[in-house]
Amino acid sequence: MIRVAVAGAAGRMGATVCEAVDGAPDMELTGRADPALGVDLAEVLPGADVVVDFTRPDTALANALQCVEAGVHVVIGTTGFDLEPLRVARGANVFVAPNFAIGAVLMMKFAAEAARHMAKAEIVELHHDQKLDAPSGTAKRTAELMAAASGDGEPPIHSVRLPGLVAHQEVILGDLGQTLTIRHDSIDRVSFMPGVLLAVRRVGEIEHSPLVGLEHLL
Ligand SMILES: NC(=O)c1ccc[n+]([C@@H]2O[C@H](COP(=O)([O-])OP(=O)(O)OC[C@H]3O[C@@H](n4cnc5c(N)ncnc54)[C@H](O)[C@@H]3O)[C@@H](O)[C@H]2O)c1
Repeated sequence: MIRVAVAGAAGRMGATVCEAVDGAPDMELTGRADPALGVDLAEVLPGADVVVDFTRPDTALANALQCVEAGVHVVIGTTGFDLEPLRVARGANVFVAPNFAIGAVLMMKFAAEAARHMAKAEIVELHHDQKLDAPSGTAKRTAELMAAASGDGEPPIHSVRLPGLVAHQEVILGDLGQTLTIRHDSIDRVSFMPGVLLAVRRVGEIEHSPLVGLEHLL
């Protein structure tokens, strides 16, 4: 059994992760850390093999460093913070994904491929209006992958924040007399759970930490 604690357990994503871990036959939910529950991360670390962090951009880095120092692997879904300090963190592994949905991983891959062949592109990312960071981690990662594939600069990103949305992105590419649109929609947070559980199962065996992107585990 993999002992899993969740940081941000009272949040939209954290609560969904708790349910998913609870339902996984090879995992045991050993702790729910969240200031909203009055439980500090330090309290749940001793009983955990892996921490899953879906918190806030201003706390995810400190949380991750605390996990690694305690020898606990960490799977990070929180977006909008600088990963650089994690490159020197030793003691346990760190896995980060700006998007845990398989459809979003495919969207990024297809967009990078398309960017090699079409003249210009722009990214429109759309999220619920409680999201703290803009542009989204997924959009930034898509832009990086497209730039690396095409050898051109990163495409511009437009951010939409509205109630009713969950997590959506369109990559629109244009060329002579034609456009191509690649679109992904997460219409429910369960879309992220197979990816999160896969990362929990694999984070202990990754060779170079931190590892960024679900595509490396597929
Ligand atoms: N990687 C992905 O696939 C993916 C998907 C959806 C959302 N996200 C990201 O996940 C993060 C969380 O999103 P959300 O919608 O669940 O937000 P949310 O605001 O609903 O939940 C965040 C929770 O973290 C708690 N928290 C704050 N500081 C904490 C700390 N120090 N320790 C533990 N818990 C703490 C808050 O009390 C809150 O309950 C955001 O950064 C969002 O962009 C990533």
